Amino acid sequence: MGIDYKAPKDFLYNRKGPWPQPCPEHPFGESAGVIHLPLREAIDWWLHIGSRYVFTLAYTPVAFIKGILNPGLEKVSDEEFAQMLTHTMLAKFIKNVFDSKDKEIFGDILLQDNIWICDFEPVRVVKTFPGIYASATKTLLKKDGDHYTAIEIYVDDTKSMFRPGNGDAWELAKYFVLQGGALCSTLVVHPLLHFPMDSVNAITKTALPKDHIIFQLLFPHLRFTLYLEKAVLTFKSSLLMSKWWMPYAPYPGEYEGLRDLLVEGYNGIDHNYSYPPFKYQFEPEFIVGKYGEFHQAYYPVFRKFVTNILVDLTETEVFYLSKWADYISGWVPGFPKGVELVRDRELLISTVAYYLFDVSIGHTVDHYNYGNMDIRKIPLRLRHAPPKAGEKVKIDRSKLTKFWDYGKYEMARRLFFKESTKTRLMDAEYDFGKRNTLLQKHVKDFKNELRAVDQKLKADKAQFAPIDDIAASIQF
Ligand SMILES: [Fe+2]
Repeated sequence: MGIDYKAPKDFLYNRKGPWPQPCPEHPFGESAGVIHLPLREAIDWWLHIGSRYVFTLAYTPVAFIKGILNPGLEKVSDEEFAQMLTHTMLAKFIKNVFDSKDKEIFGDILLQDNIWICDFEPVRVVKTFPGIYASATKTLLKKDGDHYTAIEIYVDDTKSMFRPGNGDAWELAKYFVLQGGALCSTLVVHPLLHFPMDSVNAITKTALPKDHIIFQLLFPHLRFTLYLEKAVLTFKSSLLMSKWWMPYAPYPGEYEGLRDLLVEGYNGIDHNYSYPPFKYQFEPEFIVGKYGEFHQAYYPVFRKFVTNILVDLTETEVFYLSKWADYISGWVPGFPKGVELVRDRELLISTVAYYLFDVSIGHTVDHYNYGNMDIRKIPLRLRHAPPKAGEKVKIDRSKLTKFWDYGKYEMARRLFFKESTKTRLMDAEYDFGKRNTLLQKHVKDFKNELRAVDQKLKADKAQFAPIDDIAASIQF
């Protein structure tokens, strides 16, 4: 047969499409960025996504009035605190490996059974505005069956340890932990679902012919993403710019420090086992509790779907697949090279399945979960210095945040944090060209199986996001 070398017209953008480049802001600390985009991607994004942002801004006065009417933060009981750390998106941070710094801080208690740590060390890089505070923290939890209890909080800024029973100092320490959770969720770990995948998105559009089976499989999952990422990372109006006049910029500090949080996530923290450097994954990482159960339940469905679709690749498809992987592996750490994917079918299946899983289930569920949390319990700004051992602390919850802190956070929640699905995973349509008769039944099976998992998770009280609300691509 031989390889059928394709012409420019056989590609989505005539082989002149988007391509990754070193991130302009942090070429050695953030994922490659895709900055130069076809006009049609910009128009599509503005029509369907950007316009919603503009309309939602009309809600600003309401958000600020809600802040005035109900000032400050709400009480978070110890029970609820542990629940928030282990039964939400924050469960991603719960680990039972301890590095030398943990051992120095907590000592022999780490030798006990069933001790887990929740480490928000990345917060150290945040440069807070005057009158606003943030601190790195480490929290120890004791596990009993499925139940966790927080037993110690270490507040790094004051080098102080707090335990339940330390009164308001403990209460305040809990808010610093939750603030760290909000910062590390939105700017350290969640971005790893977004930005490294942009290279896969761009290279798929530019380097795979439209009749390639992998192009056909990924195409419904590529829409809106590249322009969204460009807006977040480079627009002067991005919430990351953290300007005082932005009614939707909720973070506690300036742009540089916030941007460094992305670097903490991508490069990892050298000595810290909770923050390894980013590497492309082939299955969802282990997450404790039901949030982990949710991820694990869906992944095999994606794997099976990909296994059924990627059959009988032609020689030409294998050739372009190999080039595609070689290009991507130059931009995405851990992404396999072409020769590996051609040699190892299981690896190819995992590589593609993880991409589909990441941009749909993995991405939407974080938004669904974090975006629906009570922002009076998981602050981004705190107007009280962190507690210090030996110093008396008296907190007035109504004064822990200002009304505009609430207003900005509520606007960011509505605009960016909460899911706002435009194209649904369950509506994804695949055009497999000549293979349609053979493969469409697998699409049907895939969706039926997704729905079955959804129902099972619902029965298990682990339905963190209903399948009908899962987006087909990264679009928020
Ligand atoms: Fe996102």
